[in-house]
Formats: sequence, structure tokens, C-alpha cells
Amino acid sequence: MGSGWRGEQLNEFRVYEDAAGLATAAAENFVVLAREAIAARGRFLVALAGGSTPRAAYELLATEPFAASVDWTRVHLFWGDERCVPPDHPDSNYRMARETLLDRVQIPAANVHRMRCELAPQQAAAAYERELEKALGEDGRFDLILLGLGTDGHTASLFPGAAALGERERRVLAVYVEKLKAWRVTLTLPVINTARHVIFLVSGTSKAETLARVRASEPLPAGLVQPVAGRLLWLLDKDANGA
Ligand code: 6PG
Repeated sequence: MGSGWRGEQLNEFRVYEDAAGLATAAAENFVVLAREAIAARGRFLVALAGGSTPRAAYELLATEPFAASVDWTRVHLFWGDERCVPPDHPDSNYRMARETLLDRVQIPAANVHRMRCELAPQQAAAAYERELEKALGEDGRFDLILLGLGTDGHTASLFPGAAALGERERRVLAVYVEKLKAWRVTLTLPVINTARHVIFLVSGTSKAETLARVRASEPLPAGLVQPVAGRLLWLLDKDANGA
């Protein structure tokens, strides 16, 4: 699966009864990893997934007991990818996170690192790369990156056949997604695969076949996520696991 990315990482699959159980597990993992990172390094650097699956987990994080379990003043939120639309557009991943989480917890505005996709795609990507490098500092590692799985095997906005899959230097790219006839801005594999923890959230029968293909090491973008010195955890519900 992939080449050169298979590092020493723990690749673990956990299956939950339903989407609610998956969301609870995701929120619990977020709280635990936040505590660990803040205790170890004074802050928690996390990239949020877009799409619809993470909604329930973000909503949970904004409610008790989860909200009070996180020192939001030490959390720095980024995104794994963004659609090239204004931040108040219905398709915006930022808007989804704002509605479900950001408006409901006390996170300082300066800690919310939005991809400014109202700019031209290349400009947005270059600006985000600068912001990422400034925030992540020398070792340039996220503590946690949350990812989803598309039915075509994409993750973040890394789609099958995309040149971006071969990027080894840039951390953020603007990508034109032919099948969607739309521009996206996305983190690249170099930054995803240096994260301390990567957690996929996969829910629903529509993902079962794709997940099975990833697990069978078919060359799909999601299968190229192999943290070189990190932990890879797949949180699934029974439907996605094909049970
Ligand atoms: C996006 C996401 C994308 C998403 C998958 C799964 O911007 O859409 O980053 O990679 O995680 O497409 O989306 P669902 O959770 O909606 O199935």
C-alpha cells in the first residue's frame, strides 16, 4: 500500500455499534490526545476533517462533559482541506465546524486557523502553508489529524489519480477536482504522515466497499496515509465495517 510511506505506526481499527457510538469515541479520543499534547508541549495542534461524518463528533465536543474537559485556550484548530468557497457558504468545512463547535466553546479566535478559500486557490494554499509553518514550528507535526473517507477512496482533498498524491515537499496545495469541477485546498501526504496521531472517521454502508479496498491495500489515496512515526486509528461504525 503506497510506497515509502509505510513507517513504524500502529494501524488500528475500532468498530462501534452506530454513528453515535463512533462520534462518542472520536470525542473521547480528541479529549485524551488534547490532554496529552497540552501536558507534553503546552498546546494541541489538530486538523479537522470536513464533510458530514465528523459533524456529530464536533457537536459532542461542544457539549458536556467533553467541552469542559478540553483547555480550548491551548487548542489550535486547522483544517485538513477546504472547498474554495466563502467561509459562510453551505459547503464550507469551516462553516460546518463553526456551527457545530467553534461558536459553542471558548476557543480564542487567534487559535482558529481557517483556510482562506475566498482567495484565489493558489493564494489560499500559499497563505495557509505560511500559517501552518509559523504555527507548527520546527518539527512541523500535528498532534492529531482527523480524516474522512470518500467512496472513491479520497481523503482530505487528495483524490484518486491526483498529481497532489505525489507531492513530497509542499504541505498545502490547491487542487482542481475534475469530478467535482471545483477547486479545493488540501494538506498533502508529507504533513499528514508526520502527524503524531491520525484518526479516520468512517460511517455508513456506502463506505464499506471502499474501506475493504483500502484494507486490501488497493492503491487508494486513503491507503497512502501511513504516519511515519505516528499512530493510525480507524474509528468505524458497523455499517462501514460491513458487519
Ligand atoms: C471534504 C472532506 C472529505 C470527506 C470525505 C467523506 O471536504 O469533503 O475533507 O475528504 O472527509 O469526502 O465525506 P463524508 O463524511 O461527508 O462522507
